[in-house]
Amino acid sequence: MMKPTLEKVKVGIVGCGYIGRTHAMAFSYTPKSEIVAVADKDEQRAKELASRYKAKPYTDYKTMIEKEDLDAVSIGLPSPLHAEASVYALRHGLHVFCEKPMAHTLEECDMMIEEARKRSLNLMIGQSHRYWQLDREAKWIIDNGFIGEIISLSNITMTGIPERWGDDILMGTAVHFIDTIRWWAGSDVETVYGKAGSYVSKWIDNASAILTFKNGAFASIEIYNTPGNRGQGFMRSHVFGTEGMLETDHYTELYLQKKGEQKVLLHSMGSGGFEGPNRVKTFSLETKEFIDSIIEGRDPAVPGEEGRKNIEIILAWVESSKTGKPVKLPLK
Ligand SMILES: NC(=O)c1ccc[n+]([C@@H]2O[C@H](COP(=O)([O-])OP(=O)(O)OC[C@H]3O[C@@H](n4cnc5c(N)ncnc54)[C@H](O)[C@@H]3O)[C@@H](O)[C@H]2O)c1
Repeated sequence: MMKPTLEKVKVGIVGCGYIGRTHAMAFSYTPKSEIVAVADKDEQRAKELASRYKAKPYTDYKTMIEKEDLDAVSIGLPSPLHAEASVYALRHGLHVFCEKPMAHTLEECDMMIEEARKRSLNLMIGQSHRYWQLDREAKWIIDNGFIGEIISLSNITMTGIPERWGDDILMGTAVHFIDTIRWWAGSDVETVYGKAGSYVSKWIDNASAILTFKNGAFASIEIYNTPGNRGQGFMRSHVFGTEGMLETDHYTELYLQKKGEQKVLLHSMGSGGFEGPNRVKTFSLETKEFIDSIIEGRDPAVPGEEGRKNIEIILAWVESSKTGKPVKLPLK
């Protein structure tokens, strides 16, 4: 059953925590979208967000989906609930913008993709680093040949354990850099050789992996937590090519160094706080892509199949750590 062509997309926000509030802010800057209702099991949170955007509050997202005349929902619930809520909305004929990580198992990812595809509904995954300014600049520089053919990529991150989201450090945070590195490499991953363990908590909290790509490139991703580090820590990525290299901290600096030339530095203003201009721009570019893809009747830039690839790599990483051997994709 095809959804009729829309001129304006009526959106319901599922989850009114940190990222739900971000989604609402982003939709408020997105043309051709309207926030109609919001839902959170915490009544106070739902009421506060609803009053800010003149929407209707609900404490049960299923009731919101059944009662309101919505076209789409954005899902900012803890990650273990992503699949259940996405499938519920898709079965009620709604387009879905679901936060990362898409889900925790490939079976859940496949169910989400199948429910969307068979109903010709859009399912977009919130891999937000595809919309941060410097990550987009890096993609542009790579795709326009400034550093030649990619040889290798790397990311090293130190961060808190994202237990509030129901995630370990791989599902909660490394998922961003797996996605970014895949996107920059412009190729699919062939093998994953990793180590991952619980050293300072009950979650996977320190991990490292080497990935090889079908186009011959390779990458290393390292993600760490140490006791006492509850905050953002740091993150840094490199891309080495046959003609030069890129280096970025993702939020404030991007260096391009070409053979025999001075380093060129691009500055960005960082996130600038919750409603800082760069953060607003990042997330409203993402919600605009979701809304435009619905209105134009095309796939979004990051459909379910792309979100699934990141989950497959994480599962292969954990399997490799258990067996001590590289794991070839696809996972069986
Ligand atoms: N793209 C990004 O940069 C980014 C940043 C932060 C978080 N996230 C993702 O967003 C998701 C949520 O993270 P967060 O930081 O907003 O968490 P949060 O704890 O701030 O918010 C989650 C909200 O979900 C509500 N909730 C929980 N169970 C519910 C249910 N059954 N029904 C209705 N409401 C329910 C909670 O009351 C809470 O308000 C996670 O998957 C996380 O990975 C993405």
